[in-house]
Amino acid sequence: MVGPFIYIFRFLHNLLDLKLFPLYPLLFLSAPHRVREKKQTQMERNPFVLLVFLIVSSMVAAPIHCKKQTQALGRFYERKMKGSSGIDKSGFKAVHYINKSRVHTQQGMKEKDRIKKLPGQPGVLFQQYGGYVTVDKAAGRALYYYFVEAYHSKESLPLLLWLNGGPGCSSLAYGAMEELGPFRVHSNGKTLYSNRYSWNHAANVLFLESPAGVGFSYSNTTSDYDNSGDSKTAVDNYVFLLNWLERFPEYRNRKFYIAGESYAGHYVPQLAHTILQHNKNANSTIINLKGILIGNAVINDETDVKGMYDYLASHALISDETANGIEKHCNFAPEDDSESSSECDAATDEAGQNIYYVDIYNIYAPLCHNSSLTIRPKEPSVANFDPCSDYYVYAYLNRVDVQEAMHANVTKLDHDWEPCSDIIRRWGDSPSTIIPLLQELMANGLRVWIFR
Ligand SMILES: *[C@@H]1O[C@H](CO)[C@@H](O)[C@H](O)[C@H]1NC(C)=O
Ligand SMILES: *[C@@H]1O[C@H](CO)[C@@H](O)[C@H](O)[C@H]1NC(C)=O
Ligand SMILES: *[C@@H]1O[C@H](CO)[C@@H](O)[C@H](O)[C@H]1NC(C)=O
Ligand SMILES: *[C@@H]1O[C@H](CO)[C@@H](O)[C@H](O)[C@H]1NC(C)=O
Ligand SMILES: *[C@@H]1O[C@H](CO)[C@@H](O)[C@H](O)[C@H]1NC(C)=O
Repeated sequence: MVGPFIYIFRFLHNLLDLKLFPLYPLLFLSAPHRVREKKQTQMERNPFVLLVFLIVSSMVAAPIHCKKQTQALGRFYERKMKGSSGIDKSGFKAVHYINKSRVHTQQGMKEKDRIKKLPGQPGVLFQQYGGYVTVDKAAGRALYYYFVEAYHSKESLPLLLWLNGGPGCSSLAYGAMEELGPFRVHSNGKTLYSNRYSWNHAANVLFLESPAGVGFSYSNTTSDYDNSGDSKTAVDNYVFLLNWLERFPEYRNRKFYIAGESYAGHYVPQLAHTILQHNKNANSTIINLKGILIGNAVINDETDVKGMYDYLASHALISDETANGIEKHCNFAPEDDSESSSECDAATDEAGQNIYYVDIYNIYAPLCHNSSLTIRPKEPSVANFDPCSDYYVYAYLNRVDVQEAMHANVTKLDHDWEPCSDIIRRWGDSPSTIIPLLQELMANGLRVWIFR
């Protein structure tokens, strides 16, 4: 399943945005004016590239992810584009009925989830929590969350949920530990340093590993991993929120925002739509959703893919000949289910080779050439992103003492923690566009910010 999405969209490097403009999202959360949809440009996260990127990264440094999986994933997106995949690409529909028995009392659980201190962590003055929320008791399905309260004014600042994409990638791996969370992992894989641009200066930030099979989130019914998809993810995320708000009732009426990047360009609007539907059906504000933010978002397959090739061409990473070949012979329209022509394949293969040694998320950035941890931490720099960060985070989150401190992996899962899941094998539905959802959200007065 899942295609190059996973890797392409994992997106370390849209850090670029967060790094250079780390406060934009914070302004969004507090600004009184309505933010208009920003026109997306080019380079919209194209899955094909991901595939290539993935292969590159596995060549440059020892792969964390097993290669077989990579190849299987690579085929997914191609299948999705060709229509022979069985992936339902029609528009998203929210599940209207959610059995009330999926929401449980959560008394006493918040205190149990409190993280006293993460191993190797600098002292901080905000509270952190981590633990599991059961979203389906019968199946034994539980999602892992990590929550950091705001540095100050936690009683009045909004609650913000962060989702990474993939599908299959972890919000702990990228969002929490490499992008907008309060800590970054040193190159020794053991100790942490502070990220002065952490979003918890502006909000109480909740990181969720979703769907089951990603990171520490799991299901005791392992066939769930073969039945993943956008719709199931939206329902589980919604049920997660209902339960989490029982566990943390002080946030129940709080202004709520959902943010995410890459394939979360699907998850975020789908969850927002689900929340709106349920609020409407109940004629009450079950969840006080105010807006969404999506970065480097996958929102519309055809233009996402085309835009990527336009970007590569306009940055001289592929030749005019290749760019013209793609323009002339490739059809990325969702209704075009035919096999791509050999001319198109040749042109996209050529493009893939051309960017083999380029980080497509930041074409000017270095690649990781040595994935070894260092005994002494390298001089950390939030401004100069270290392309080997994945390896440090992988080492850190797989430590037993870290998992114990975070209340993670309590059932002793039979696989390791991975930044992008190896165990989610199939993806049932993935609409070719989510633009109608964005229109609906805006029509309902939500603030929508699309950044890249
Ligand atoms: C809701 O879930 C409960 C417990 O799993 C089950 O007994 C009941 O039949 C479900 N209700 C509906 C309408 O599906
Ligand atoms: C999954 O199974 C383990 C072992 O039986 C159990 O401890 C755990 O509570 C189950 N998880 C859920 C979400 O029910
Ligand atoms: C919804 O709630 C509002 C205010 O509480 C009330 O005025 C209105 O009649 C309700 N609508 C329905 C369909 O119940
Ligand atoms: C990679 O880095 C480690 C630790 O700094 C070092 O011991 C090793 O020699 C390096 N390997 C290569 C191939 O440069
Ligand atoms: C969970 O713990 C077991 C036993 O320590 C370990 O083998 C496994 O890699 C861990 N899995 C995750 C997802 O952390």
